[in-house]
Amino acid sequence: ALISMRQLLDHAAEQGYGIPAFNVNNLEQMRAIMEAAAKTDSPVIVQASAGARKYAGSNFLKHMILAAIEEFPHIPVCMHQDHGTSPAVCQRSIALGFSSVMMDGSLGTDGKTPTSYEYNVDVTRRTVEMAHACGVSVEGELGCLGSLETGMAGEEDGIGAEGVLSHDQMLTDPDEAAEFVKATNVDALAIACGTSHGAYKFTKPPTGDTLAIGRIKEIHARIPNTHLVMHGSSSVPQEWLAIINEFGGEIPETYGVPVEQIVEGIKYGVRKVNIDTDLRLASTGAVRRFMAQNPSEFDPRKFLKETISAMRDICIARYEAFGTAGNA
Ligand code: G3H
Ligand code: 13P
Ligand code: ZN
Repeated sequence: ALISMRQLLDHAAEQGYGIPAFNVNNLEQMRAIMEAAAKTDSPVIVQASAGARKYAGSNFLKHMILAAIEEFPHIPVCMHQDHGTSPAVCQRSIALGFSSVMMDGSLGTDGKTPTSYEYNVDVTRRTVEMAHACGVSVEGELGCLGSLETGMAGEEDGIGAEGVLSHDQMLTDPDEAAEFVKATNVDALAIACGTSHGAYKFTKPPTGDTLAIGRIKEIHARIPNTHLVMHGSSSVPQEWLAIINEFGGEIPETYGVPVEQIVEGIKYGVRKVNIDTDLRLASTGAVRRFMAQNPSEFDPRKFLKETISAMRDICIARYEAFGTAGNA
């Protein structure tokens, strides 16, 4: 069944678990997520980015998600729009039938330029008014996502602050977060706590304080009833990097957010955990390996099937680690 993000996250908060929100662009990702959810009895959040809408088309994405709901009627599914850059973008997704939208007012409509607090409050508040009138939940963002190690926002096409960010910009201020939630009435708040989008988050394995878990704790103490969202939560599995590089890829040494640190964040109010890169890496590794080992094969279903099982295994591992399993 289609469900709003608010309903899912309220249950997650009551029971103290987190829900991975996986990005979807194609049928293989959708199947991987749903099969993993069915296997582990987990509720699902799937999110479509502007890049996904450009790649697959909004109508294809919509109907793919609706098809998933039809095929897995016992799994609650939230259809979420990732990183909306304006109230108008969110309005279009609501009209299309999304049950949740993100209004990312931390960056301007170009998806690059950090904005003022006042601008962010204004666009987010307007989106909440519109969305709540339609029974749709809203995620806002305060602070700029950026790696506390490198000061960079990450390499995803479309969304990410330009240039090197200051330490302050990359850590959401707890008092400002409290004020922001009061002024906008958002259901969930994406916070900046040292993660960044993409595969290049850290050049060495992050230690206990590479991520500002303490900051998450402080924010949660100020806004205990607002669900926190961690973007840039891919763990960048070293096994998949090795497979990609073994079969012709060239990805330099890089590290993501360790699953244990995300689990620590979940103890302090993180309820939605955004993951895209890990499924991309698994998918690429599976294709490269299959192609190298089966050079005479040319039926795309053969290698795409490999991507489904590679991605499904990651989804299962996250549903289990975050405590999502058993809560559908
Ligand atoms: O927010 C970033 C997500 O990883 C989506 O990336 O715009 O390339 O689909 P994308
Ligand atoms: P990753 O690039 O770490 O997977 O983050 C995805 C994300 O935050 C989508 O909004
Ligand atoms: Zn994001």
